[in-house]
Amino acid sequence: MFTKMVLLFVIFLNIYVSLASDPDPVQDFCIANTAESATASNAIQCKNSSLATVEDFVYSGIKSPGKFGQTGLSAISVNSNVFPGLNTLGMSFVRADFEVGGVNVPHYHPRATETAFVLEGKIYSGFVDTNNKIFAKVIERGEVMVFPKGLVHFQMNVGDTPATILGSFNSQNPGLQRIPTSIFGSGIKDELLEKAFGLSSKEIAKLKKKLSPH
Ligand SMILES: *[C@@H]1O[C@H](CO)[C@@H](O)[C@H](O)[C@H]1NC(C)=O
Repeated sequence: MFTKMVLLFVIFLNIYVSLASDPDPVQDFCIANTAESATASNAIQCKNSSLATVEDFVYSGIKSPGKFGQTGLSAISVNSNVFPGLNTLGMSFVRADFEVGGVNVPHYHPRATETAFVLEGKIYSGFVDTNNKIFAKVIERGEVMVFPKGLVHFQMNVGDTPATILGSFNSQNPGLQRIPTSIFGSGIKDELLEKAFGLSSKEIAKLKKKLSPH
């Protein structure tokens, strides 16, 4: 009997852990009160719910692409920091636009699985699992790919027209770490990078110059 209960408990715990993402809300909504939460350390205050309006639940900042970066990508992340209405609801999204040949560099989201739906264009799209096995192919308008939580993934517009995707996340704040900048743009000691990548100090300097934030 006891062993059965322990077994059930372990099974339950496993299911619970494998389903865990952002905590469940305990009220209808909690529009982040950005003015107040700037002073509150970690706990985000809710805006007084009787003062909520429909505008708190609408975001209009992704009608068109944003500014394109060096790799031919424009990505507008719509998380709870920019869209306070998402606070406590466990989801967020991103609009990404690609110039012809544009690249979304290898990166990952520590706190969310992502589904990427192609609105327009042809995108070479993929991820790498923890065995370094790659799962990649060209997906087209109307197709969707899932990038499992925390795994490195990437995209490139391989069509001859601009491309657009809508990414959705099962966290209000998925987080983003781009591999090139987190490695070469963060100030890790040159000697370590030379050894890790088998590159000369000159090559490291070149990468650091290109990928440093300033
Ligand atoms: C929320 O707003 C309503 C209407 O202005 C007010 O009556 C109520 O006291 C407010 N609640 C809090 C907790 O401030």
